[in-house]
Amino acid sequence: MRLFIDTGSVAEVEEIAAWGVLSGATTNPSLLAKEDGDPGEIVQRICELVRGPVSAEVVSQEVQGMIDEGRALRELHEHVTVKVPFCERGLAATRALTDDGIPVNMTLVFSPTQALLAAASGATYVSCFMGRLDDISVDSTVVLEEIADTLRAGGMTSEIIAASVRHPEHVVAAARIGCEIATTPAKVLRQMLNHPLTEAGAEKFRQDWQSRPEFGAWLRELTEKRLAAAGS
Ligand code: G3P
Repeated sequence: MRLFIDTGSVAEVEEIAAWGVLSGATTNPSLLAKEDGDPGEIVQRICELVRGPVSAEVVSQEVQGMIDEGRALRELHEHVTVKVPFCERGLAATRALTDDGIPVNMTLVFSPTQALLAAASGATYVSCFMGRLDDISVDSTVVLEEIADTLRAGGMTSEIIAASVRHPEHVVAAARIGCEIATTPAKVLRQMLNHPLTEAGAEKFRQDWQSRPEFGAWLRELTEKRLAAAGS
């Protein structure tokens, strides 16, 4: 499974991209509306930082408007994927954009039937929301499993993006279900880092190493020798 970051914040992308774990990013109108600055420049900067697919969403509610916006968004950067909300007109726009060779991420998908239609329209990605299902007391892992089983049994090749991720267990569930991507807020990615036993173990390593100062001197000398030999 690949990890995307779900944000409109360049600062968050800079922070997490430095970890070397991101394969792409997703934005949407709500996320971009939170940010200051030019949305086009934000999308372009995120494309440069993640060096992978970055979703930018159309907002028109008419087929031709979605197509025109999608074509324009695609020209922002070679990594731009056009995000189209799931609906009847969105399907038509997705088919037209896909036939143009433009990758589409159909979003706001909540059921296997919607996912089948999105995939049939040629969507490269299908964004299936988890948190918003849980919000209405529907088990999102059950729905995502049904979506994954349905698309794969149906021979549909659209990649499933687990979206509306609210906590680390959503990411784990998405991976276990076989989703190709989880698009994850920075807050959740930071939560995925932490475990008390890791922190305690690192502290113990530091303490034990410091109990043998000659070992520390050895490693510093080894490192300095290599740096000198490498001329840096
Ligand atoms: O990728 C869609 C995501 O941004 C929506 O998340 O938490 O508003 O349901 P949320």
